[in-house]
Amino acid sequence: MTIGTLEIAGTPYFRLAFGGRMRYILCMFLKHENDRGTVMALLVAGLLLVLAGGRVAAASHTFAIGETDFLLDGQRLQVRCGEVHFARVPREYWQHRLKMCKAMGLNTVCVYLFWNFHEARPGEFNWSGPADAAEFCRMAQAEGLWVLLRPGPYSCAEWEGGGLPWWLYKNDQMKIRTSDASFLEPARRYLKEVGRVLAPLQITKGGPLLMVQVENEYGWFGKDAAYLGQLRQALVESGFEVPLFACNPPSALPNGFRADLFQVVNFGSDPAGAFKALRKIQPKGPLMNGEFYPAWFDTWGQPHHKGDMGRYLRDLEYMLKNNMSFSIYMAHGGTSFGLWSGADRPFRPDTSSYDYEAPISEAGWVTDKFTRTREVMGRYLLPGESLPEPPPAYPVITVNRFRLESSAPVFDNLPVAIKDERARSFEKYDLGQGCALYRGTVPAGGPASLKVKELHDFGWVYLDGHLVDVMDRRRQKFAVQLPQRAKPGQLDILVEAMGRINFGQEAFDQKGIHGPVELIASGSPAVELTGWQVYPLPLDAAQLGRLKYQGGSAKGPAFWRGGFLVTTVGDTFLDVRSWGKGVLWVNGRCLGRFWNIGPTQTMYCPGAWLKPGQNEVVVLDLTEPAQPELAGLAQPILDQMRRELDFSNRARAQGQFKTEGLAPAIGGAFTTEIKMQEARFAQPVKGRYVCLESVNAHNGQPYAAVAELEILDANGQPLANTSLRVFWADSEESGAEDGSADNVLDGQPATMWHTEYSGAKPGHPHHLILDLGKSQSVTGIRYLPRSGDAKVGGRIKEYRVYVAEQSFGLNP
Ligand code: GLA
Ligand code: CA
Repeated sequence: MTIGTLEIAGTPYFRLAFGGRMRYILCMFLKHENDRGTVMALLVAGLLLVLAGGRVAAASHTFAIGETDFLLDGQRLQVRCGEVHFARVPREYWQHRLKMCKAMGLNTVCVYLFWNFHEARPGEFNWSGPADAAEFCRMAQAEGLWVLLRPGPYSCAEWEGGGLPWWLYKNDQMKIRTSDASFLEPARRYLKEVGRVLAPLQITKGGPLLMVQVENEYGWFGKDAAYLGQLRQALVESGFEVPLFACNPPSALPNGFRADLFQVVNFGSDPAGAFKALRKIQPKGPLMNGEFYPAWFDTWGQPHHKGDMGRYLRDLEYMLKNNMSFSIYMAHGGTSFGLWSGADRPFRPDTSSYDYEAPISEAGWVTDKFTRTREVMGRYLLPGESLPEPPPAYPVITVNRFRLESSAPVFDNLPVAIKDERARSFEKYDLGQGCALYRGTVPAGGPASLKVKELHDFGWVYLDGHLVDVMDRRRQKFAVQLPQRAKPGQLDILVEAMGRINFGQEAFDQKGIHGPVELIASGSPAVELTGWQVYPLPLDAAQLGRLKYQGGSAKGPAFWRGGFLVTTVGDTFLDVRSWGKGVLWVNGRCLGRFWNIGPTQTMYCPGAWLKPGQNEVVVLDLTEPAQPELAGLAQPILDQMRRELDFSNRARAQGQFKTEGLAPAIGGAFTTEIKMQEARFAQPVKGRYVCLESVNAHNGQPYAAVAELEILDANGQPLANTSLRVFWADSEESGAEDGSADNVLDGQPATMWHTEYSGAKPGHPHHLILDLGKSQSVTGIRYLPRSGDAKVGGRIKEYRVYVAEQSFGLNP
């Protein structure tokens, strides 16, 4: 039995998992003797029973981190964990999904808390109903599962703002994920609440909680170990006494490293390499993969992600065989119901479906991946374990196609306006999510460009009620052309906020208009438009309740209402293919967002939220439906792209790419090593555009692939991703997988730009141009090769880098 303080690498960091007094007595008791066998064990058990006042569960387990293993009651515990977010599963189905996890061979589940799910307003906490984290943990325990808790305060996870509450952003000076009081004070208050609610569920108190994570992949974000120390301290003070841990992808492990946090490493391939990186920084202790990706999440407008089953099963077996612990991210992804889906950087909003191609499907079904996972797990059970059968899936129903017969145009259903001289962000109007209409006036005059400094995220611009164009953050399109006006006109900008970015600095994502709004007529100076009326449209129950519907169809942005009859309830997938872009509710429950461009074309509607008889549907479509109709299907459609329906197709640069006459700033060869490789120029080169050219690839194939690119500024430091955008790439794979060039700026080693291969196979040289926004001094680049084993294609060998003031012959 392991008792007392355990040292790894000379640092005492894990205390035995027992509560205060009990631990003290036990430590005294066992200090001098650690090998008295059964008699001692019985004595201890007896003592524990007495001390715990008969709570057998409370007394019966210990958890510690040993030199090579996790130790449960002194015995090796290989943590076979899977991630499930209760916020993404209807509460009515929690138990079912937990039973599925158990049947798949997991002995532990890992759960994030999303701060904004529990503290909608400062100091107003909610831990009930769908937010009842404690109940989820108790249910897990009842199913024989241990729990790893990841409370944040930052959590990532393709969730709105990575879990950071929007109200933080009322403060323009907010410094997220730092020890600055603007962030740390509210974060501490929240962690204290987390302790109040969940510390009683630690294994030391008889509960299922084995370990608690501090922050999330912080090494990707910063290097301030003191900040992590503050959060660690906050968790300790809020009552957590189980081991605390930190997770990071391999390359970020050293950033902000603290020896008093147990380190785990996140990766989706190459376990040997990742664990080697972990060993470098943490020489002893069990090896654990904190996030093992069986596939990936989806964003709107990019093909559905499918994992590589062979790779996944191989790596899973490798870890099982070698006594490594892991957490499958996701075991069951579920759905980002409501408006909770986040967005990837630079700005790619996530789909509401979080199916993730996880082994347990969005609707909780057994998949091929589930069966094969279970098969492998079954071969590596610990002594005394067995695999239960998966529970039956919930019944599925279909719903015949029906029409939504009444509508409520957005413009006819505006609330009372807030008057403001200048148009400002949603947060300034106390609006967290949804939409807002900004109404102003444009003077009479000739054709002019209407320009907003920045707009998050989509802005439908109307002049005197007629749609002019759409501003689109994906394309950094913040200007539209207004026609000539004989008299002053009414200007309406209907702004939709999608999820806040959940990764990097960009998570500080204030929504709506970031002014000024300017009118620029050719030959005249820009004129700022002032005197606004702002109509907040939070899309909450109160707003929905006030809508005035009329019979028949509407033009333009509108809410639509209809109903369908159900005889026996069951899960169904609402087919939204005839709609444009918006949000959908069934019986007042928001199922999420839809967008006809795909890849998701259906919305998961849990049977638990339906009732026998009439069920009500409300749809907000910000464009206009082709047909205001819905049907319930028996199967989801998660992988149907319809790019042609996008209202702003990626502005393809015009012209002929050329580097003629330009000398490369550097040329050389990259290695195949999966780490950031730096190419420093002999001297700084000034310019606004940086072009990476692949001359050939290591495996001789015609493809180029890049996981991440960084540009080094005058001081040799990487420019913030927020100041970069992809200007052009000569080709991008968009059929077989997501090879979009934006992937080089998303901070994720697992995603990459990949040139086309499923259709045409254009060869080298390949080119990727980044726009730095303004001319500046560049001293080099950093390149991260794509991940995967040695055989995968596209790793660039010889390369050249060009820096230029002009965009290589191309016009945006
Ligand atoms: C990171 C984060 C997770 C999640 C995954 C991608 O590793 O830690 O929260 O966002 O990426 O799904
Ligand atoms: Ca990437």
